[in-house]
Amino acid sequence: MKLKLKFMVAVGLVLSTMALAQAASTTDATLKKGKDLLDKSCMACHAAKFDGDPTYVYTRPDHKVHNLAQLSAQVERCSTNSNTGWFPDDEAAVAAYLNERFYKFKTN
Ligand code: HEC
Repeated sequence: MKLKLKFMVAVGLVLSTMALAQAASTTDATLKKGKDLLDKSCMACHAAKFDGDPTYVYTRPDHKVHNLAQLSAQVERCSTNSNTGWFPDDEAAVAAYLNERFYKFKTN
């Protein structure tokens, strides 16, 4: 019984360390997933709205997003409006990619 408890604690520690490590760094796989989703569902409209340049919406001098919370909210809004059917972790991957590539807000 006591041994079993120790084992459970050890497994718990390993799992929480893994979760922490994952939260601390955005993996290449996440960024790639974010880019692929963005290319598929978002670029065409942004390009159409902004003279054929799909990245201008993020880099224009008067862009609207000024911190990570606003970025997540805007990704969610555009995702919902365009009926992507994305799950929250898809939206998180897209926000992470946009931040890495364009906004560069501090993530910690
Ligand atoms: C039907 C057209 C359309 C689609 C599809 C679309 N967007 Fe947008 N998006 C816009 C427009 C227009 C703006 C600018 C809104 C403004 O200036 O208030 C915008 C703005 C944004 C911004 C804020 C840029 C800034 O800093 O000002 C982000 C981030 C964004 N979109 C993400 C996405 C994501 C992610 C998707 C894909 C799920 C997406 N958009 C799909 C039209 C679209």
